[in-house]
Amino acid sequence: MASSLSDKIYITTPIYYVNAQPHLGHAYTTMIADVLKKHSVQRGARSIFLTGTDEHGEKISQKAAEAGMPEQAFVDRVAGEFQAAWRALELEPDIFYRTTAPSHKKLVQTVLSRLKDEELIYFAEYEGNYCVGCERFLTDQELDAEGKCPDHRTVPAKRKEGNYFFRMGQFQERVLEYYRAQPEAILPSRYMNEVLSMLSGPLGDLSISRPKSRVSWGIPLPFDDAHVTYVWFDALLNYLGGLGYDGTKEGGADFDEDMWRHSVHLIGKDILKTHAVYWPTMLIAMGLDPFRRLQVGGFWISEGAKMSKSLGNVVDPVGLAQVYGTEPLRYYLLSEAPYGEDANFVMQNFVNKCNADLANGIGNLASRSLTLIKKNFDGKMPVFEDASVPPAVAAASKSLLAEVHALPATFAEAFDAAKYQQALRAFSETVARCDRYVNDTAPWSLAKAPEKRAELSVVLATLANALSTLATVVYALTPKASLALRTALGFAEDGAVPEWSRAGDLIKAGTPFGEVPRLFPRFEMPAKQEG
Ligand code: MSP
Repeated sequence: MASSLSDKIYITTPIYYVNAQPHLGHAYTTMIADVLKKHSVQRGARSIFLTGTDEHGEKISQKAAEAGMPEQAFVDRVAGEFQAAWRALELEPDIFYRTTAPSHKKLVQTVLSRLKDEELIYFAEYEGNYCVGCERFLTDQELDAEGKCPDHRTVPAKRKEGNYFFRMGQFQERVLEYYRAQPEAILPSRYMNEVLSMLSGPLGDLSISRPKSRVSWGIPLPFDDAHVTYVWFDALLNYLGGLGYDGTKEGGADFDEDMWRHSVHLIGKDILKTHAVYWPTMLIAMGLDPFRRLQVGGFWISEGAKMSKSLGNVVDPVGLAQVYGTEPLRYYLLSEAPYGEDANFVMQNFVNKCNADLANGIGNLASRSLTLIKKNFDGKMPVFEDASVPPAVAAASKSLLAEVHALPATFAEAFDAAKYQQALRAFSETVARCDRYVNDTAPWSLAKAPEKRAELSVVLATLANALSTLATVVYALTPKASLALRTALGFAEDGAVPEWSRAGDLIKAGTPFGEVPRLFPRFEMPAKQEG
């Protein structure tokens, strides 16, 4: 059995179709991947974060034609837009994978040749309901009452064509066995239940080619030049290509198979079947273990309706980040809804959440504590333990810090279970607990009474220690603000990642502090635009 995901983790997002500009849904999934990466690095894990673009298939070809551009030029342009969007959102993937890269084409063809040699691929005539939006044949059961694709609200085209098929059905039992043995392979668990129900009937085989006469924009089959590879068969292999897999039985000299055993795929609920059914059958056929974990996110809607240009409710993540900053946006998107459920983007909720948890929460706690330390202790860490303070004062300090020091474990546990909202709730509750401590101990009054100097010292040192833990825990969500706070607390980390195992370290008395930082501004609702 591979070691735990806190030792190693390979985090992937779906590779996005280049038929649309990056939007909030893409940004959300990519942001969670970035948060998870930073969090894992803090916990000492070797981590790789992959994202990229899915550049073949019929709908890309259609879009390129609409734009009046050759396909390659078109996909180069949109792939560049995705990269620019991730830079603007300060997301830091280690790998940006593109399916039109020559190495990827070679990988796909090597896999196809091998499976064909092993007689896991055969040719047959096929007739079915093809949804171009999904880029796959839908079964009759998947259509709604009006015979439409429930995701794209269009009637799929009846198509009859000669296709190559992958003997997917042959691996159904192996996939089921894997899921039974690894009940946490798909999170949240309700998606595991959905997948088990998809696998309850006979699976059938998977069409993995398209005739070139109809779709030419794809990877040619190595054994039949009149067909190109089905875009999902091509795209899913990106996850292995990112780790240097070359498609051969051995995987190639560069293949980091150990990292593969620690793979975590983040996807949206719309692409559950391709990832939870098709993909593990392909992996098993190739002689590899299925992914370690599939984490399934819900959909974002906007002001109560599906985002659409005509409704004018499309949320532009880059535009929002330009006005409000990337860190408040990350924090809000992960806290709005339980991971896996649909979430509703409401501007007022965004403003309220950032104000409550960030500006008035951790931001205000830091600024009032550090300002008092600056005024009363010359900007140096006050003495934390002092035998001369009344027992109740020492006890209150101990009990606060005990709660704060329990946060890293609570937070990490929630992250491991993909319960991001729960982690952030624990964070904001701990900040609120610190606020109550400030109000109960009233350090501003203690500061006016010279005989209470030792008490003041203990109270403010307790708060500084608490802030250091809070800054460490929230780093993956708000990296720049966390580092600014850590610098203000005298840590000379120089941009280094605050280590999880040291989240509870106490600051040495006398440590010189930096300037009091203004971590998060308070937001106002934007003025309504006329018309
Ligand atoms: N290219 C395929 C994925 C291949 S992975 C081997 C694809 N691309 S996509 O661009 O259409 O969408 C990918 C993902 O974007 C979705 O699964 C989901 O993660 C995200 N989202 C797209 N719209 C979304 C929302 N409105 N809300 C949340 N996420 C959604 O499918």
